[in-house]
Amino acid sequence: MQFPKQVEIIEVGPRDGLQNEKKFVETEQKKQLVERLAQAGFSRIETASFVHPKAVPQMKDALELANFSRELDITFLALTPNQKALSRAIEVGVPQIAVFVGASETFNEKNINRSIADSLAECAEVFKKAKQHNLFIRGYVSMCFGCPYEGAVSYEQVKRVVSHFAEHGVDEISIGDTNGQANPKIVFERFSQLTGDFPGMTFVAHFHDTNGFAYANILAALQAGVTKFDSSVAGLGGCPFSPGATGNVATEKVVQLFSEMGIETGIDEVKLKEAVLYAKMLK
Ligand code: HMG
Ligand code: MG
Repeated sequence: MQFPKQVEIIEVGPRDGLQNEKKFVETEQKKQLVERLAQAGFSRIETASFVHPKAVPQMKDALELANFSRELDITFLALTPNQKALSRAIEVGVPQIAVFVGASETFNEKNINRSIADSLAECAEVFKKAKQHNLFIRGYVSMCFGCPYEGAVSYEQVKRVVSHFAEHGVDEISIGDTNGQANPKIVFERFSQLTGDFPGMTFVAHFHDTNGFAYANILAALQAGVTKFDSSVAGLGGCPFSPGATGNVATEKVVQLFSEMGIETGIDEVKLKEAVLYAKMLK
């Protein structure tokens, strides 16, 4: 097997992790978590979500978190599913935005109250405005392998969303196993097809550990040439609109895995441990 010398781990715990916590995590605690993660050396952290506060009340303090992240001088991402969200993000100087569209129709409707076609049209407008503000644009494709409402998801369903993102100038695409249904075989095949069909596009792998396959899936993605991985401190997470989804793959285990394989992540494991202990207190 051949492995890259280094990979990037994008920490999504403060957003994708905490969004699933039922009890409101105080803004000060969220800031403490972000600060500890910043000290551990992540190149990018997803710290906020400008979704409708009624849809995800846990993320209602996006403004404070974005302001705090800017003051900390870290590179951070924030979710902006529509134009209203983007305007809110631009006001506070978010440097990297993320839109998200499901590969499965039912999930997309439950998650953002739109058909896939309508969501893609909205994304085109979001991308146009984000580019005018020189923002880095991430496109998430959710439910890329299996959907709790529709079952198996085909490559063509994933490709439809990826094609649209690519046409409209996305900077990177995160391929999500939102419900944790993937296995290494399909992961290798799907990422190989994607990199073949979209040469030059940056793909990120985003796994959930529902079946305990997430680390095997990471290795399969690595073998298909992926060098960027999303993960969440202490395995925080799930998706409020995806029944059965368990936590995101745990950052500390991903870092350990790469470290023991001699693959550079740039993360300080001692400082990461402090962030993990803190994150566990918030669960
Ligand atoms: P909607 O109700 O269809 O919105 O929600 P609308 O356009 O019909 O507007 C209704 C009202 O909401 C209007 O106000 C808008 O101004 C307001 P009114 O005129 O009635 O007073 N509004 C907003 N207010 C604040 N912020 C906004 C906003 N947008 C509209 N951004 C919407 C559509 C997308 C907003 C809603 O469905 C939503 O917020 N959904 C978010 C769901 C979510 O956050 N899901 C979890 C994240 S995705 C995920 O977890 C997967 C991922 O992590 C990858 C993986 O794990 O694999 C990415
Ligand atoms: Mg996730």
